[in-house]
Amino acid sequence: MSLSLATALVLSVLVAQGVESKSGNHVAMMIQSHFLQHGVRLPTRAFREAVKNAAINVSHLSHRPSSLIILAMANEEALKRTVPIFLDSLRRVKVSGGTDAGKTFDGRLVLVAWSREALAMCRELQANYSHHCVRDAEHAAGKKSLGFHTDGFNALGFAKIKYILNGLSAGHDVMFLDADIIMMRDPLPYFYDHGGDMYVMMEKCLLFNETASIAAYEFVRHEKFTPPLNIGALFFKATAGVTRCVYNWIWDMYGQVAFRPQVWDQDIYGVLMPKCSYRFSIRLQILDPRLFQSACYPRCGCTYHDANVTAATLGKSVAGVPPVTGHLCDPGLWGSWLLRHFPCSGTTDQKAWHMRQFAKGLALGEPVHITKHWANEKKVGKEDKDGGGEVDEEFAGVSTAEGV
Ligand SMILES: *[C@@H]1O[C@H](CO)[C@@H](O)[C@H](O)[C@H]1NC(C)=O
Ligand SMILES: *[C@@H]1O[C@H](CO)[C@@H](O)[C@H](O)[C@H]1NC(C)=O
Ligand SMILES: *[C@@H]1O[C@H](CO)[C@@H](O)[C@H](O)[C@H]1NC(C)=O
Ligand SMILES: *[C@@H]1O[C@H](CO)[C@@H](O)[C@H](O)[C@H]1NC(C)=O
Repeated sequence: MSLSLATALVLSVLVAQGVESKSGNHVAMMIQSHFLQHGVRLPTRAFREAVKNAAINVSHLSHRPSSLIILAMANEEALKRTVPIFLDSLRRVKVSGGTDAGKTFDGRLVLVAWSREALAMCRELQANYSHHCVRDAEHAAGKKSLGFHTDGFNALGFAKIKYILNGLSAGHDVMFLDADIIMMRDPLPYFYDHGGDMYVMMEKCLLFNETASIAAYEFVRHEKFTPPLNIGALFFKATAGVTRCVYNWIWDMYGQVAFRPQVWDQDIYGVLMPKCSYRFSIRLQILDPRLFQSACYPRCGCTYHDANVTAATLGKSVAGVPPVTGHLCDPGLWGSWLLRHFPCSGTTDQKAWHMRQFAKGLALGEPVHITKHWANEKKVGKEDKDGGGEVDEEFAGVSTAEGV
């Protein structure tokens, strides 16, 4: 296709959506490149190759021939600060079973970079780690850390869902990870042992039943409490229904962005995925917050007894693991954890500081400072609210495809 034809197509879509450049809706302009007139752009050859080379054989876990890919994305700022720590953690964890047993997780990761510079940085890191680097030139994004609800922040959700969709369409189960995560043990058996088709993190440490599907009738109808969700770590099984729901997720956002530039992937996931999953009898479950930890959880981490989770206590806040002294947390308690995500930890710089502290605690087994108090003392701005947004149900509900 000639450039002018491509431009004309993009413009016609924009005009069709009532988006004019002078309206100042930069997000709607930025994200057009992920779409063609007939839908979400197909994967590039480089993406398909990387995915093929990174895939893990998980047939032994899922009891059907299947493979899984791990996807993450990063800009220059993240590549400089958090990605090396993320990769270092992946390199220390090995696939625990099947024909790929013993391979380290860094080599199973497809890392998407957006700019030429970011791709170069991704490749430099290949001196020490065996991850796969792919450039997505379709995504226009800033180099700096993307504050909460800046244009760049809102635009990257579209890129993320495109990669998930293209991974699923190639037939692979997908684990998507934010680049501010430290992996501690192989999380794959969890996905296949707990009976879910999709998994998502909890935003807070609340008493909840990780074996219940939040796509069940009573949750979708608001008869039972659904916890706030966090999409820092996600799992999708490559089934027709799951793929359809992921397509709905991005298509719903695309429909909204013209008049609502702050449309947020995490909000729409929370509103739409349970409903869509219900229609297709897909099981959508939370990742046990005691194993998939988050820096948004109180004190030194989320813990509670199964016996405490009853119909009456569902959704109650948990106090968390107390520090040994001051803000120091004891790594002795982390033995069962699978990974830790670092939202609620300030700027990219501050996140990296927390991640390094955590990695140090893991390596040396000595108490370290990982609680979010440090970030509060430093007066972190809005970015600290990672995941703190309210779900705009009314808006999201209106455009949700409720076909027959
Ligand atoms: C994947 O693993 C299964 C055993 O779980 C094995 O039979 C199959 O050959 C493997 N597939 C590939 C492509 O290695
Ligand atoms: C690779 O690791 C070495 C040794 O730890 C370090 O000096 C070097 O800076 C690393 N290279 C990159 C690109 O991170
Ligand atoms: C948790 O969910 C499972 C599956 O839906 C159910 O069998 C079990 O009774 C639930 N437990 C509690 C305490 O609600
Ligand atoms: C959990 O139950 C135990 C008693 O079995 C109780 O002492 C404790 O306070 C409960 N914790 C929570 C968070 O409900």
